[in-house]
Amino acid sequence: MVPSFKHLAWSACAFGAACAQTSTITSSSGGAADGLVGTPVSTSTQPASNAVLIDGTSTSFRVIPTLPPSIDETPPLLPNILDPEAIDAHAACPGYLASGIEKNAFGFKANLTIAGDACNAYGTDVEDLSLAVEYQSGHRLAVKISPRYLDSTNITRYQIAPGHVDQPILEANAEHTVPSIDLQFTYSNSPSFGFAVIRKSTGDILFDTRGQRLVFEDQFVSFVTEMPEAYNAYGLGEHIHALRLGNNFTATIYAADAGNPTDNNIYGTHPFCWYYLVDQQTGNLTLVNASAADPTAEHVSYSHGVYLRNSHAHEVLMSPKNITWRTLGGNVDLYFYDGPTASDVVRQYQTSAAGLPAMHQYFTLGFHQCRWGYANWSETESVVDTYRDFNIPLETIWNDIDIYNQYRDFDNDQLRFSYDQGKEFLGRLKARGQHYVPIVDSAIYIPNPLNESDAYATYTRGNDSGVFLKNPDGTQYIGSVWPGYTVFPDWRAENTSSWWTDELKRWHELVDYSGIWIDMSEVSSFCVGPSTTTSYLRTTPTPGVRNEVYPPYVINNVNGALAVHAVSPNATHADGTSEYDIHNLFGHEILNATYNALTAIIPGKRPFVVGRSTFAGSGKFAGHWGGDNKSKFWLMAASIPQALSMSIFGIPMFGPDVCGFDGQSSEELCSRWMQLGAEAYVWESVAEASRKAMHIRYSLLPYMYTLLYQAHTTGSTFLRALSWEFPNDPQLVAVDRQFLLGPSIMITPVLVPGASTVDAVFPGVSKGQIWYDWYNQTAFNATAGKNTTIAAPLGHIPVFIRGGSILPTQAPGYTTSESRKNPWALIAALDMEGSATGSIYLDDGESISPNATKSVDLTVTGNALYASSIGTYEDKVPLANVTILGVPQIPSGLTLNGETLPMSSVDYNTTSKVLRVTGLANATSDGAWANDWALAWSY
Ligand SMILES: *[C@@H]1O[C@H](CO)[C@@H](O)[C@H](O)[C@H]1NC(C)=O
Ligand SMILES: *[C@@H]1O[C@H](CO)[C@@H](O)[C@H](O)[C@H]1NC(C)=O
Ligand SMILES: *[C@@H]1O[C@H](CO)[C@@H](O)[C@H](O)[C@H]1NC(C)=O
Ligand SMILES: *[C@@H]1O[C@H](CO)[C@@H](O)[C@H](O)[C@H]1NC(C)=O
Ligand SMILES: *[C@@H]1O[C@H](CO)[C@@H](O)[C@H](O)[C@H]1NC(C)=O
Ligand SMILES: *[C@@H]1O[C@H](CO)[C@@H](O)[C@H](O)[C@H]1NC(C)=O
Repeated sequence: MVPSFKHLAWSACAFGAACAQTSTITSSSGGAADGLVGTPVSTSTQPASNAVLIDGTSTSFRVIPTLPPSIDETPPLLPNILDPEAIDAHAACPGYLASGIEKNAFGFKANLTIAGDACNAYGTDVEDLSLAVEYQSGHRLAVKISPRYLDSTNITRYQIAPGHVDQPILEANAEHTVPSIDLQFTYSNSPSFGFAVIRKSTGDILFDTRGQRLVFEDQFVSFVTEMPEAYNAYGLGEHIHALRLGNNFTATIYAADAGNPTDNNIYGTHPFCWYYLVDQQTGNLTLVNASAADPTAEHVSYSHGVYLRNSHAHEVLMSPKNITWRTLGGNVDLYFYDGPTASDVVRQYQTSAAGLPAMHQYFTLGFHQCRWGYANWSETESVVDTYRDFNIPLETIWNDIDIYNQYRDFDNDQLRFSYDQGKEFLGRLKARGQHYVPIVDSAIYIPNPLNESDAYATYTRGNDSGVFLKNPDGTQYIGSVWPGYTVFPDWRAENTSSWWTDELKRWHELVDYSGIWIDMSEVSSFCVGPSTTTSYLRTTPTPGVRNEVYPPYVINNVNGALAVHAVSPNATHADGTSEYDIHNLFGHEILNATYNALTAIIPGKRPFVVGRSTFAGSGKFAGHWGGDNKSKFWLMAASIPQALSMSIFGIPMFGPDVCGFDGQSSEELCSRWMQLGAEAYVWESVAEASRKAMHIRYSLLPYMYTLLYQAHTTGSTFLRALSWEFPNDPQLVAVDRQFLLGPSIMITPVLVPGASTVDAVFPGVSKGQIWYDWYNQTAFNATAGKNTTIAAPLGHIPVFIRGGSILPTQAPGYTTSESRKNPWALIAALDMEGSATGSIYLDDGESISPNATKSVDLTVTGNALYASSIGTYEDKVPLANVTILGVPQIPSGLTLNGETLPMSSVDYNTTSKVLRVTGLANATSDGAWANDWALAWSY
């Protein structure tokens, strides 16, 4: 089997492996075994004589036409944004007029009434709307526009239930009568209804739909906001795109199983963005073009966030002077966050909408190895062993769906991945402090009912409990994924979560996994082949009729029609919603269910779940990986903005497929990527680069764990763009080839082939920010506001420590649990004033509710380093040494808690200005943080 097999999906379809059409399923073995997917062996249109129980009803088994027989001729759709003849709905439609304003304690309500004849541009106009404006908290303003009457127009609209996906959107309460929020809502009725959101303190207009008609139809909602020229917008995931979205970009938001299409929609959907405006003078409504701003001048920046809480397919069209938001259904359900800094916006969004990211177990910060194509348990174990032979730390080994019997979830291939042999291997793995994370695909194989030997208990139990998605006529929806014909869990059916927990639990008894990797969760279904038709399909809306499969407005979906490479939009959920309404939520709901299942299966421990498709708030349950990328330098570069965007969305646990999933990886690429992402041992140079990168990463585990905890408790970010930490520097607005790990570590990877140097900016230098080279610990001589070329030969990744930081480290062990037993050390990098701060969070590293925790505060001020802690968590590991960077001259004496330290334990380098204090272990033998201490020096 070829390692890149997973990428044959498209070709399989192109070869004519149609979906379960009107054919009777007569064989499943033809499915996965020959490398094609779901090839029907017979194409009889007669119902099979065998009756089976489907959802408890005896049903003559015949695969229902889930996709039309002519699906391979799916008419090509011309995306609206590329269609010169497309109706401009904002010009054609009449807009609305507001009336009957009713003030209340926290805002107001009004009626919006259509201001002319319905235009029915891309659906049926909704004539009567309600507007609700609520100042909901000190930092959040909500603007909601929804149909006034749901029944009379027969318009079905889905809106995310409160608390379902995100935090409950709190109904504002009367206590918020005088909101301190720095936002003001205002509206105009001339020529038609439009609104603006203004920053009160500066007068800046942040969002302005006045002068552009609102379009509100059952299958199309659109509004336009004017923007200052050269605005800086971020977020709106998930895309492979620069961090700064730019002013000429359409963000399509529709979960898609698609490899690495630059700029197109991919796995996850995050309709949240924030804007960052830089100006030296406030109150100026035409904001300064940040990229053209004079870098030496003083600037002040303000950021604000916008979240459109809507699960439908969207498009956000960014033009130089305006942004158009369009969705294929639902309401205008907007939340504005007032910032004023980027970090504030992200925190406000996470704490009040998406939810704070999960606290992950300590081990998840270690290095994970995952590859398609391990032949059996022995080969999997030999990979683990080889890592150890090469002394490259390996924390977790993952397996792809090739462990399964014909790719059927929870059903190991007993010839290659038997439960007995697995138990032995996983026992050895666990004993060495390592972990195992296997894949679980989203679709469930549906066996051939005519062939008893094909029985598949996971399906049978699910079918008996009525947990699978249906066709509009109530029959089971059958698609096709890796195992062949498949069904799909309907997370809205009553028994689905308990069935899922039970399946994961049964399998855990056979395969002792530590976490679960969820794949294909967009949710993906194959079978729609390429088109042979040349003329484009245009759907003319019929008033009152919803066309879910070919909605009149065509989004620029990477896969074409909404049904392509996905479950059809007309599939029906148990709560009556169509897949059309909630396609974007499948990935989130399966993560939620898996998280809940793991809390039941491995009680008390933080579930480790990683998913491919995510939605706003998925970070509460899971991490994310960048999907099946290719071995290309540009994708390594793209993984940085992707990771930074995930930070914005509240998913700090993000990793790309290091070295690329598909295609031949080159030695140089792999070496560079290992350092960035840090089978590392295939080339000796890569092994060496990996060891170096891992050494840094593992040394910093306590720092990273603390960052994770801060993200989990406060909504701060794990990886950070330079501009978030240095918001007033307009030069940084688009920097996404360098990034910060937390506030204190700057990483500048080499992202192009054949390079031995890299250009870096050193932010804040003009304001006195010092940067220390990680390797020689010396202050780096950087020029303010200019790119500085730094050496970066293969095998070296430039890492700098920000002056003013104190980093907790532990000597790296082979695993994270070994590292946790190694002596502590601190690196204090002094700022211009000779000060620095830092912190450490400690707990058992795995419990959902640890019974003891400890927080350590670290401060350097006035030639002394103070450590003070609160909390009862016991860590017996002593402090070995303290390294202080940027000490101007040799100290004449040092004391620890007033006791003079022998000069033999002090080393000062007059060139590097590094002061190193060793031999502290005796004095801290109860544990580095058992007691508060002060290390002071004098000159
Ligand atoms: C559902 O959509 C599919 C195309 O994706 C179509 O073939 C089928 O006829 C539709 N079913 C109904 C009942 O409309
Ligand atoms: C909106 O209109 C309805 C009747 O059409 C009326 O009952 C209601 O009070 C109005 N609401 C507001 C806020 O004016
Ligand atoms: C709503 O649907 C029902 C049933 O299909 C139909 O009888 C009624 O006329 C529809 N009402 C409107 C306003 O379209
Ligand atoms: C905007 O993007 C499109 C598509 O990438 C490109 O063809 C066009 O030239 C761009 N326009 C500007 C003004 O950059
Ligand atoms: C606002 O900024 C623009 C561009 O920087 C400048 O031309 C204009 O004079 C400023 N207006 C005010 C009122 O400061
Ligand atoms: C937005 O601005 C672009 C030019 O930058 C213009 O072509 C487009 O018509 C504007 N959109 C709307 C809805 O006004």
